Amino acid sequence: MRIRDFSISNFRNIQQASLSGLADLNIFIGQNGSGKTSLLEAIYFLSAGKSFRSQRIQHVIQYHKDQCLIVAKGLDNEVLGLEKSLDGSSHIRFCGDTVRMASQLADILPLQLINDESFQLLTAGPQLRRQLMDWGVFHVEQQFFKVWTHCQKNLKQRNALLRQYRLTTPRPLLKIWTDALCESSLALDAMRENWFEQFILQVEPILNSLLPNLSTLITFTYYCGWDKKRGLKVCLEEGSETDLQRGFTHYGPQRADIKVKHDGRPAEEVLSRGQQKLVVAAMKVAQQRVLEAMGKKSSYLIDDLAAELDANNAGKLLHLILSGNGTKQVFLTAINESDIPSLDTCNPIDIAMFHVEHGVIKSA
Ligand SMILES: Nc1ncnc2c1ncn2[C@@H]1O[C@H](COP(=O)(O)OP(=O)(O)O)[C@@H](O)[C@H]1O
Ligand SMILES: [Mg+2]
Repeated sequence: MRIRDFSISNFRNIQQASLSGLADLNIFIGQNGSGKTSLLEAIYFLSAGKSFRSQRIQHVIQYHKDQCLIVAKGLDNEVLGLEKSLDGSSHIRFCGDTVRMASQLADILPLQLINDESFQLLTAGPQLRRQLMDWGVFHVEQQFFKVWTHCQKNLKQRNALLRQYRLTTPRPLLKIWTDALCESSLALDAMRENWFEQFILQVEPILNSLLPNLSTLITFTYYCGWDKKRGLKVCLEEGSETDLQRGFTHYGPQRADIKVKHDGRPAEEVLSRGQQKLVVAAMKVAQQRVLEAMGKKSSYLIDDLAAELDANNAGKLLHLILSGNGTKQVFLTAINESDIPSLDTCNPIDIAMFHVEHGVIKSA
């Protein structure tokens, strides 16, 4: 969906905003605390059904209000609307139909988010990298959601059994869930591996353009969650004593990761913040390029582009994103207009500029 009109009510400090005629590149300028991140957060909400900075809806809905509402109208007049209430209820509709699953939203409005939390993709544990990978696999493999759900179910059952009986777990029952977990895990692993091969082909040239001096030192490795040489079945069987003692499954796709290293060392420990931001951005752009190869486009939310980046690098990153055939729309925030890189060398592009002040958004 390419958003043409967008409206928000009672979302963070934005009581009411209606934006119409959104462009390919939409720039929001405003001081700290004006509501820029809140605006991007509202767009993200439509894509994920949740916030990227708060788990709790009461922090997102405007203080002293009962609900928030976000509505986007697309170029073909398709309407995506989301209402969330303090009591936890939520209503999401797309073109008149109720949307029940966040996965449907991700399909309607695929987004890549680049913000100051993006560092966490390198610095936090594997969960976020696994999510990035699975988001990508979800968009390229039709069977992904089914296989992933199956895998989660088998893992949950095996863990419940281990937790309930520990060392007295009936072995034949354990074998049933081990076999089921193996089967679904191998299917999931094959999909992730296939996506990762495509991801690597995309990420290397992107990294080379963003960090030419470092790109050959940075490596990405897919870890499936167990020792591939021994195989999952053997790992689960050999690790079963530990599983029985501790009450959960140690090996499996729930531990998968994309390991990012710089010259063999963890990237987050040696790269500067700006370099980390570029590596993360390269991963997000590569994620999108894999989709592009399938004819799918996505939009970008870039919060505070200039943070941690010098003008040259901010310019390179924005050009890279704008030049992608798979880029549907870009929403970008900055504190000052002077933080926006020059777009003179870009192909002509439709731009809309807005000023954000105390939660009020006005066309510039
Ligand atoms: N639930 C809420 N209701 C009202 N205001 C909020 C809520 N949550 C946060 N705010 C306020 O919204 C303002 C805008 O925040 P933010 O969008 O992060 O600003 P910016 O990104 O422009 O620096 C902040 O001053 C913050 O205190
Ligand atoms: Mg902000």
